[in-house]
Amino acid sequence: MIRPDSKSRTEPRTSAASLADLLVEARSVTLDLVADLADEQLVGPMLRIVNPPLWEIGHVAWFQERWALSHLRGLAPSRPDGDALYDSAAVAHDTRWDLLLPSRQATLALMQEILDRVLDRLRSTPLDDEAVYFHLLPLFHEYMHAEALAYTRQTHGYPLPLLSPHPGANADTATAPAPTGGPLAGDVLVPSGRFLLGATPDGSFVFDNEKWAHPVDVPPFRIARAAVTNAEFAAFVDDGGYARERWWSAAGWQWRQQAHAEHPVYWEREVSGRWLHRRFDHHVALEPHLPVVHVSWYEAEAYCRWAGRRLPTEAEWEMAAAAEPAGDGTWRKRRFPWGDTPATPTHANLDWRARGCVEVGALPAGDSYFGCRQMMGNVWEWTATDFDPYPGFAVDPYKEYSQPWFGNHKVLRGGAWTTRALLIRNTWRNFYTPDRRDVWAGFRTCALFA
Ligand SMILES: [Fe+2]
Repeated sequence: MIRPDSKSRTEPRTSAASLADLLVEARSVTLDLVADLADEQLVGPMLRIVNPPLWEIGHVAWFQERWALSHLRGLAPSRPDGDALYDSAAVAHDTRWDLLLPSRQATLALMQEILDRVLDRLRSTPLDDEAVYFHLLPLFHEYMHAEALAYTRQTHGYPLPLLSPHPGANADTATAPAPTGGPLAGDVLVPSGRFLLGATPDGSFVFDNEKWAHPVDVPPFRIARAAVTNAEFAAFVDDGGYARERWWSAAGWQWRQQAHAEHPVYWEREVSGRWLHRRFDHHVALEPHLPVVHVSWYEAEAYCRWAGRRLPTEAEWEMAAAAEPAGDGTWRKRRFPWGDTPATPTHANLDWRARGCVEVGALPAGDSYFGCRQMMGNVWEWTATDFDPYPGFAVDPYKEYSQPWFGNHKVLRGGAWTTRALLIRNTWRNFYTPDRRDVWAGFRTCALFA
């Protein structure tokens, strides 16, 4: 089981040795995520929401080679057909199951060969800012695909992955029970203010969709201290929430009908009436104080309408997570809800730490200035906001990361239990189409009036 480095950092140390350690550790997680899968599971059924795992792990290595070797150093690729197999921008999604992919053994050998070449160059070539960037880019890309492989395993009903201890693993937390905390009711009031939404140039790695911080005037609002729980969402389901069109937007109702959604996708009701939740390959009784998870944006929207609530905008979410008084009538921003220090196990459920979600009242040390809990980790949180570029957007070298997805995705914030601590921060924008239910996504709500 992977555990966070007890001395985990806000940003990766940028020596060649530390970058190499991070790349090796990320690769060990990727490999652990597929190690126990049978050959047919490595391909899996064709679904719009997942990739064949065999393709996905090869793609991760291809991406690393593309940026850290070909782009940065002008080196020739390992395979002449690498782009034709693994370039996600060029290989249509539904054709990835038909590719003549290398075997598992050959794929693993290719991945090791590429990683070895990257590590050799890291050791032998001076590291400048550009080189740091083009090693962090594939590192963070690999982190994101590790999370995708995890929800692929959930989607297909494969077992919870058991990740190996790795260099820097924190033995203290490896056997610790999941923290508890019960529910956490109530709202906090966030006063109006001019807030700088987005990332501020400070030398840290940042993706193009976070650039750059720009002022937004946010009216006062009340936002929940915690994410919506299973018990709260079950009340909506049990009240016939999925059967009443009045709670759904037109698009949401259309989605509900097409998806035949009657409840969250992994819920099942026993004859006794008790709700079960499928967690990877087995069912557990629905835990009332865990956040509702694997719900689409449409389901979140319908719940809000039923509850007389609304989703926060992404500016409201970021303000509730990041703002603290500067002392001169303005707001300063924290990198994380609890401050600027890196996450520890008492702050946030990240890095696969609890092997699943924890109760929404747990981890009070991670509260934001306003008292919102778990804005980092546990579950991604849908916001009301469409994924659009910030003013002055300019595309970064990895041009397929953000730009193709503007306009028809919704923004999610905060990261889930499978998200790596080195990846996430208050300004991080994730994005999915509003129909997705496979992601570890839940939501918190705002009052209709402040
Ligand atoms: Fe990718």
